[in-house]
Order: sequence, then structure tokens, then C-alpha cells
Amino acid sequence: MKSRTKWLLLILVALAVGIQFVRPARTNPPEDPAKTIFADAAVWQDAPKTIERACLDCHSSRTRWPWYSQVAPVSWLVAHDVEEGREHFDMSNWATYRASRKSDVLEDIGKLVKNHSMPLPIYITLHGEAKLTEQERQEISAWAERARARVEIQSKE
Ligand code: HEC
Repeated sequence: MKSRTKWLLLILVALAVGIQFVRPARTNPPEDPAKTIFADAAVWQDAPKTIERACLDCHSSRTRWPWYSQVAPVSWLVAHDVEEGREHFDMSNWATYRASRKSDVLEDIGKLVKNHSMPLPIYITLHGEAKLTEQERQEISAWAERARARVEIQSKE
């Protein structure tokens, strides 16, 4: 090997090792069971189980951090998705949302699951268990519509 090539390889290896020291926070904040979406009977009563399989990792405090979430730069991407996911829709802090926000999120769930935006496609390629059939997508959408109607009624009582 030319010495230039050797140097280049050495630098690349050093970089690959070096970035491992930039470790994103992979937290699972403590959860109050009473505040979760699972405790909201009006919403969760007839929810399909598939939601837990396909959404929990990015939309709750119950994230299972896979081995590749320990390796930079993938770790940065995974931590970012989880952070963003929780910001938009957090099943662990559901009770902190006002009725109007619950209603909006449920509307989005129906749409995003039906049009294959959620779960994020990249996640499905790495998590076979999160793959949803067309029928499972329909079931989640139908549930989101029913739950949304119940939230609307509740907020008017
Ligand atoms: C790999 C992580 C990941 C998984 C798994 C995932 N999401 Fe998301 N979700 C995100 C991220 C990141 C965002 C915010 C950015 C965006 O909209 O793309 C988001 C946004 C959302 C939003 C909010 C959209 C808005 O306009 O505020 C909803 C609702 C949602 N996801 C529902 C779901 C549902 C339902 C599932 C399971 C079927 C799911 N997500 C699975 C990462 C994920």
C-alpha cells in the first residue's frame, strides 16, 4: 500500500473510533402509569395490540434500545428519532395533553398509519415485528377514529 493510502485509512479508523465518544442520551424517563395512554379507558379500550408492537419504541418512555443504538453515527439518528417521536406523541405522558391535542394526535395517527408514514419505514426494515399488514393499518386507523370521536364527546360533557 502507498503510504498516502495508509495514512488515509488510519485517519478513517481514528475518526470511526473518535465519534464513539459523542454519546447521545438514551434515556427512558420514569413513567407514571396513571398518565399513560393505556390508563385512558375512553381512548385505549378497543385499541389494537399492534400499536404497542409498532409504535412504543419511539413514542413512549418504554424504548428498547437495540445494540446498534450504541454505535455512532447510528446512535445519533436513533436517539434523534426517539426524542422527536416523544415530542410529537408520547404515550407515557398522554394525560398531560388537552382534549384538543389528543384529538389532533388521534387524527394524525389514522392518517399516518394508513399512508405508510408511520411507523417510520427505516424502523420497519430493522424491526420485522413492527411490519403492519394492510388490514392491521386499517384497524389502527379505525380505532383512532373511534377514540377521537369519544375524546370529542368527553370534552363537551
Ligand atoms: C423509529 C421511530 C418511530 C416509530 C417506530 C414510530 N414513529 Fe411516529 N414519529 C416519529 C418521529 C421522528 C416523528 C416526528 C417527525 C415526523 O413527523 O416525521 C413522529 C411523529 C408521529 C406523529 C405526530 C405527527 C404530528 O404531526 O405531530 C404521530 C401521530 C405518530 N408519529 C404516530 C406513530 C404511530 C401510530 C406509530 C406506530 C404505528 C409510530 N408513530 C411509530 C418516529 C417514530
